[in-house]
Amino acid sequence: MTQMPSNTSFDDTLALARDPYRYISKHCERHGTDAFQTRLLLQKVICMRGEEAAKVFYDTSRFSRVGVAPSRIAKTLFGRGGVQGMDGKAHCHRKMMFMSLLTEDKIGGLTQFARDIWNRRVLQWSRMDQVVLYRQAQEVLTEAVCQWAGVPLDPADVDRRTSELAALFDYAGNIGPKHWWARIARNRNEAWLRGIVKQIRAGTYQPPEDTAAFIVANHRDLDGNLLDAQVAAVELNNILRPTVAVSAYIVQCAHALHEHPATREKLANGSADDLWCFVQEVRRFYPFFPFAGAKVKESFEWQGYPFPTGRKVLLDLYGTNHDPRIWDRPDEFDPERFREWDGNPFTLIPQGGGDHHENHRCPGEWIAIEQMKVATDVLATRCDYEVPAQTLDIAMNRLPAIPRSHFIISNVQNKASN
Ligand code: HEM
Repeated sequence: MTQMPSNTSFDDTLALARDPYRYISKHCERHGTDAFQTRLLLQKVICMRGEEAAKVFYDTSRFSRVGVAPSRIAKTLFGRGGVQGMDGKAHCHRKMMFMSLLTEDKIGGLTQFARDIWNRRVLQWSRMDQVVLYRQAQEVLTEAVCQWAGVPLDPADVDRRTSELAALFDYAGNIGPKHWWARIARNRNEAWLRGIVKQIRAGTYQPPEDTAAFIVANHRDLDGNLLDAQVAAVELNNILRPTVAVSAYIVQCAHALHEHPATREKLANGSADDLWCFVQEVRRFYPFFPFAGAKVKESFEWQGYPFPTGRKVLLDLYGTNHDPRIWDRPDEFDPERFREWDGNPFTLIPQGGGDHHENHRCPGEWIAIEQMKVATDVLATRCDYEVPAQTLDIAMNRLPAIPRSHFIISNVQNKASN
């Protein structure tokens, strides 16, 4: 066994916060390896990147997720008691619940709800001076996912519930007042969803049996017990919150359309395959989650380096999506690269890798892809708009990283009525 290369600074937390998407790749390149050791939040952490690293990271016999999320992330982004922090049979059983709801054939209703709401919004936009696309997408997705999930949402509450859900992913990485607002937002959101779970169990609210609200409220663990109402609220939030977070990808789609007018032109007259390739390239090219975390179950050796029991490990998602050994010209935006793509589950990993059922790969990939397709289609074919002067560069120290202006459009014209 050889000693793993190590960063020599006392603690790299600030360096990581300054450049979260490029930190791991940068240091892997400096050390000339796919793994190095550093210290984050005063703890020793191994950072890894690349296809081979992804394969070992998603081997559930080697890594655990219990107690891995830092407390500030658990209190904002994830909540406590949800599927992200589970292992083994209990994880697979809980994950089945998500997979029964979220696969490609189950989400058509959500896609249709969202399409109708987008079409209504385009009509409203044509009467507005300016539209901030990020916020608009969040509202569309909040309305659509609540309707689809069987979560009752009064139209007067769309604004408030959107702000609460958005705070959970927009401010999870912040410190100070934004972090505290995200914690308040989580408490409010969980209280709301807990109330709905209790009403379903008491029979005072009866959503259709194939909705997420009904399925989560009635889910039983491996011992046959209903989930604690609080945990059920966390899992229902695990469907609403990330669906609203697709708004960041939607803004990135708009950014890509703006930066690549020829691609936009092609999509306006293009095929379903063109749209799919475009969306996959947005997921590969643009930053979203920089890395995923786990801890070593029992010590093992990988590429000659020791991985001691209990050591925290970060897998570089963004860096693997930009690894030049996998992707030709990785820093160029080129949807055509997906025309002949082999579907390797360890190379395109913006939402995790490996098998959806067995490990922690995101069960919401089909929702993300379909919502991005709907929104791109609306922007490329349903309306014309201008992109006024604004700060469009991607804020790489923001999580998720989106254009600083949140993407403003103006002079929107609804093409369907022309
Ligand atoms: C906005 C786009 C999305 C991105 C970038 C994203 C990304 C991710 C990532 C990186 C993971 C963790 C992978 C790992 O730990 O190894 C994850 C897990 C998860 N995602 Fe997503 N996701 C998105 C959308 C969604 C949607 C739409 C849903 C549900 C409707 C969803 C539900 C979940 C759940 C429940 C988990 C935990 C899975 C587990 O621990 O087994 N996500 N996602």
